Amino acid sequence: MPSNKLNNLTNKEWLKFQKSWFIHNPPPRKKGVLVHPAKFPETMAQEFIEFFTKEGETVLDPMAGTGSTLVAALRAGRNSYGIELNPKYAKIARQIIEEERASLGDSISTLQSQIINGDAAQIAKYQLPTIDYVLTSPPYWDMLRAKGAETQKKRRSSAELDVHYSDDPNDMGNISDYEEFLRKLVKIYEGLKPLLREKAYLTIIVKNVKKGGKIYPLAWDIARELGRTYTLKDEKIWLQDNQPLAPFGLGSAWVSNTFHHYCLQFRNE
Ligand SMILES: C[S@@+](CC[C@H](N)C(=O)[O-])C[C@H]1O[C@@H](n2cnc3c(N)ncnc32)[C@H](O)[C@@H]1O
Repeated sequence: MPSNKLNNLTNKEWLKFQKSWFIHNPPPRKKGVLVHPAKFPETMAQEFIEFFTKEGETVLDPMAGTGSTLVAALRAGRNSYGIELNPKYAKIARQIIEEERASLGDSISTLQSQIINGDAAQIAKYQLPTIDYVLTSPPYWDMLRAKGAETQKKRRSSAELDVHYSDDPNDMGNISDYEEFLRKLVKIYEGLKPLLREKAYLTIIVKNVKKGGKIYPLAWDIARELGRTYTLKDEKIWLQDNQPLAPFGLGSAWVSNTFHHYCLQFRNE
């Protein structure tokens, strides 16, 4: 197996990942995880994990949703931990991880993959081991509760799928004040520092948010604020090019169809 200081990739595989943008169109979601309003694809998570860790190292997702990061970590032969506030998603994540473990068989039997149903703001009390890499995506502020998401809400609620994460006051997706949301989110990420090994990377996948006719630059604000605690290394832009275009503002004003996310790279140094 190839090996260098960071991962087990060949030089060719390393170079391929170095491009600052990539197109990844999520494959159709399995039935069990469809209930969650916003997950990233395991196939994409695996590429990040395989770049930023070696086999046998440990990955954390402090807002694990239905467990994409942990499934990807298993496939990549890494240990993983996830915190998820909503008991329903934590349960789904555990089921999915069990199914994945069963299908991967003996090869992963010594790997840990643990979902904790809890609050990421309380991470210090969960007694996690040293973490080599963080891969995560926060609620995009309270966007799932915002006006303008009605079409999606109608479509999802008629199919009995969740239209927002929870009603829990500790749910980051329920904070309506942008500055408060940003402050609390950054504090959660800062709280990971005692767990991280020196030089561990963190990848935060996030979008700038459109609300009330203006942009709240969530990705840029996280980059600037968290850059005081970890070194901001770079961004990698995730593009989706299989989404239908909606005629927002057609004929009157500029409103984009936003089909890109920022994968912000930080390093604990
Ligand atoms: C964008 S989703 C993450 C999706 C995940 N990456 C996946 O692929 O399934 C954000 C998640 O953060 C969870 N969450 C919100 N506030 C939290 C908190 N304080 N602690 C832990 N999880 C929280 C929500 O329930 C939601 O599942």
